Amino acid sequence: MTLDEKIGQLCLVMGGEGTIPDWIGDAVVRGRVGAVLNEVHVDTVNELQRLATEESRLGIPLLNGRDVIHGFETIFPLPLGQAATWNPELVERGARIAAREAAAAGANWSYAPMLDIGRDPRWGRIAETFGEDPYMISVMGAAMVRGFQGGNLAAPDAVAACAKHFAGYGASEGGRDYNTTNIPEHELRNVHLVPFKAALDAGAASLMASFSDLNGVPATGNRWLLTTVLRDEWGSDALTVSDWNSVAELYTHGLAADHREAAFEAMTAGLDMEMSSTTYIDHVHALLQAGRITEELIDARVANVLRLKFRLDLFENPYTDPAAFPAPANANHLDAARLAATQSVVLLKNDERALPLTADRLSRLAVIGPLADDEYEQLGTWAFDGNPEHSQTPLGTLRKRFGDAMEIQYIRALETTRSQSRDGFGDAIKAAKQSDAVLLFLGEEAILSGEAHCRADIGLPGAQEALIDALAAVGTPLVLVVMAGRPLTLESVLDKVDALLFAWHPGTMAGPALVDLLFGDVSPSGKLPVTFPRMVGQVPLYYAHKHTGRPPTPHTSTHIDDIEPRAVQTSVGNTSFYLDAGYTPLFPFGFGLSYAAFEYAHIETSIHEIMLGETLTVTAELTNVGDCEADEVVQLYVRDLAGSVTRPVRELKGFQRVSLGPGERTTVAFQLHTDDLAFYDRHMQRVTEPGTFHVWIGGDSTTELRTEFVVTAG
Ligand code: BGC
Repeated sequence: MTLDEKIGQLCLVMGGEGTIPDWIGDAVVRGRVGAVLNEVHVDTVNELQRLATEESRLGIPLLNGRDVIHGFETIFPLPLGQAATWNPELVERGARIAAREAAAAGANWSYAPMLDIGRDPRWGRIAETFGEDPYMISVMGAAMVRGFQGGNLAAPDAVAACAKHFAGYGASEGGRDYNTTNIPEHELRNVHLVPFKAALDAGAASLMASFSDLNGVPATGNRWLLTTVLRDEWGSDALTVSDWNSVAELYTHGLAADHREAAFEAMTAGLDMEMSSTTYIDHVHALLQAGRITEELIDARVANVLRLKFRLDLFENPYTDPAAFPAPANANHLDAARLAATQSVVLLKNDERALPLTADRLSRLAVIGPLADDEYEQLGTWAFDGNPEHSQTPLGTLRKRFGDAMEIQYIRALETTRSQSRDGFGDAIKAAKQSDAVLLFLGEEAILSGEAHCRADIGLPGAQEALIDALAAVGTPLVLVVMAGRPLTLESVLDKVDALLFAWHPGTMAGPALVDLLFGDVSPSGKLPVTFPRMVGQVPLYYAHKHTGRPPTPHTSTHIDDIEPRAVQTSVGNTSFYLDAGYTPLFPFGFGLSYAAFEYAHIETSIHEIMLGETLTVTAELTNVGDCEADEVVQLYVRDLAGSVTRPVRELKGFQRVSLGPGERTTVAFQLHTDDLAFYDRHMQRVTEPGTFHVWIGGDSTTELRTEFVVTAG
């Protein structure tokens, strides 16, 4: 390969979206492009592959990348919603379907899974995360990798996964996108890096570097991250790609004095491929001539690109035959999307068993709100190829299912979720007065979350809360369904509604999934993958926090209204809480109600003391004491009581979805190996330290059902 051909392989350019601009065609033929993104017109992709493989000197095929974040043409719930299913099999199945649909359009590389830690609901990209917990993200991320890549990357329906954004992006200060991150190394290793290692262990073929500044060295130019950890410690040969323009942005960050230095920083840090910006193509030659970099360094970068092309079998099979694939959005795909949507919805409130609704007892139903019948918004953020024509909305499904049996009045009331005009309230109130129940569909439109769409106030936008007030005053039973890309602060709304279903953005099959849940065909079984704060000022608020030296208790946290005038300032007996928001969340991690009721009892460990390297079993009895069949997500948490580095108050270590009929009881068992208890200590060594551990089994992260065990050195 000539030097130009080598540098060409490191270059990822934006496709022409259905056309091949002359400069791209020319660059491909001259071997100056290694990969394209955002080209999913299959004929165009095939023509690009023809130019690359038949008309360029070396005939090297192209990688063709696309953001397949939660489905391709069939849209599944947002990743945050998929995490709420606590069902990795569904995540894997969804990614398999998305891979098939994307591969049929000529894509061979998906920019997912997103493995960032979502602990700040202001950050718009929390929608794309699997929530706040490294274990949960690891399990779901690995499932998505397996789904995309299938058992064999060389198969025509496999696409290479890209674990992103490596690393720390979720910790952007203040929840503002692209902002700086400062993450101590032990937190990076114990929290942020964990899911990336899990994705690589699951075979992830590539990683995308984060835009963000990590402790002073932006990830795209961070040698410690891209070489020391990724290559030297983890031994990975995965392809690394920059984020959009992020090599050039090393200059904007102020890490590099110009674009040539930006290319130098990224290349020497270990970044293989440059997305969108052109600093490699413009400057690597000169850097080599100046003796700043060696040809061996360039070869090492190129090898990672070519290896992936071989693994995808692109040299043998560069072309896509769409006829060899099942039709997109076929019945199987829609069924899978429906199941995922059904299991993703979390029941947050259900007073007096307001839900499920009974169709025979309803003669008139009011369906109100801007998200009741919007086939576009229910798809959520990053749904580039989602086709709203396939969407089944809640209103459409209600009409189809019950249109003959009950009178359904639909009032949009607000044009969008941000609308301030109350002109539609009168009709909404009238409809509520005339009805036996109100189904109110509110939340956030798709564009209010996702990249660069952060919010400092995470309440319901626009006049939506005023609409709730107006409808609550009518007195007709009021069921609120929220579709949103992030946790919202809903405390002030809770008392006004009889039931609340939190649906994230459920995707193509929102309608059938929600109607099944509202009418009790299925019991809600989603659980929160992220903590819901009462007030935005509590953020970051997550269950796996540290204990502090002064943990709060109900007796020590005073409310602002209970402080006597001129109360004496003292530091004795104080604990860590807010005067106006206490210390508890509105809803904890892992929380979600059911139409059934579950009781947990008799937690036990198989053995009280284990040695390093051994496994114990933790069991508890679970009974469905309700009157319907339902799934329960059983969760296992541990606490390491004393560590050489302080440990979180609880850490999720396992979960299982269990289906039980009314009155049915089962014993749920989890295996816990001492390696599952390992963490990075003061010397950045991954160790399990002997000592006492608490262990809980229950239905959310506040469960009190606890026992303990001891790990000994032997
Ligand atoms: C996002 C990435 C995405 C890339 C390509 C960037 O703006 O941060 O997540 O994969 O664009 O579309």
